[in-house]
Amino acid sequence: MALHRLTSITIGVPDVAAVGAYYEEFGLAPAGDGRFATADGGEQLALVPTPTRRLVQLGVGVDDRDDVARIGRQLAALGVTVERVADTLTAVDPGTRVRVVVTPAPRIVQPKAPCAPTNGPGRTDRVNDRAGALARESRVRPRKLGHVVLGSTDVEGSERFFIDGVGFKVSDTVAGLASFLRCSTDHHNLLVQRAPVPLLHHTSWQVDDVDEIGRGATAMLAADPNRHVWGLGRHHIGSNFFWYLKDPAGNFSEYYADLDCIVDDELWTPGVWEGAKSLYTWGPPVPPSFLSPDDLAELMAGKA
Ligand SMILES: [Fe+2]
Repeated sequence: MALHRLTSITIGVPDVAAVGAYYEEFGLAPAGDGRFATADGGEQLALVPTPTRRLVQLGVGVDDRDDVARIGRQLAALGVTVERVADTLTAVDPGTRVRVVVTPAPRIVQPKAPCAPTNGPGRTDRVNDRAGALARESRVRPRKLGHVVLGSTDVEGSERFFIDGVGFKVSDTVAGLASFLRCSTDHHNLLVQRAPVPLLHHTSWQVDDVDEIGRGATAMLAADPNRHVWGLGRHHIGSNFFWYLKDPAGNFSEYYADLDCIVDDELWTPGVWEGAKSLYTWGPPVPPSFLSPDDLAELMAGKA
């Protein structure tokens, strides 16, 4: 696959300092000037001031300049205006208002996290010892940016832009609503859903396992219970455990673990899902604010 990762995102918010403090608590490492790094992915988040919260830029990493040239031709064939400076290609998707930057980038190489031994019926892989997760005390550190979910005023147009133009692949579809798209071996790196105004629904950050999701969310909610949005649960599409929290600007941020990985396109059959399975397989009831953000009316009025 020529596309191999999300590189970084730029989120626009009215109060960069307050939102920056949130993402530092969330576990990202400050790198100066509103930029933040993950443990394995490097600098993957930048915050910039904007009147309303939104995703300003989405970076996609490819292997080489031939990939950049091919994507430029694909986007141009769709009638998209493409800017090319050296090996970097920039184009805007009108439906989401997001500036997409495609550039050659090194692949993320993650050290193999050890698998904690667990006990089950007839299976005692951990004996005479407490669970290792109980001894964890350090702050949770997201390993990498996993995916971004965007609202688009033109889902069909945005999907053409990202699938036919940039080259994302479809992993699964929610009937008539949205497709889960990948630009790496992760089940999804992008989802575009229908919205009355372009918006950032959530960003999602990989942690080691479900214990790290619980530890991270517990620490965030101890500081401010109002940050809770939805979790703990498990998604059906992508299989991942999730817990969603809310930053001070109203963007949701998700801790996730155990996402499906697709390393051979021939061995994965995309499904078409509907109803509850399109949202989750278990967890607390879906809060209305997850389906329709509380500040939607303000975003539509351009005042949020
Ligand atoms: Fe998600």
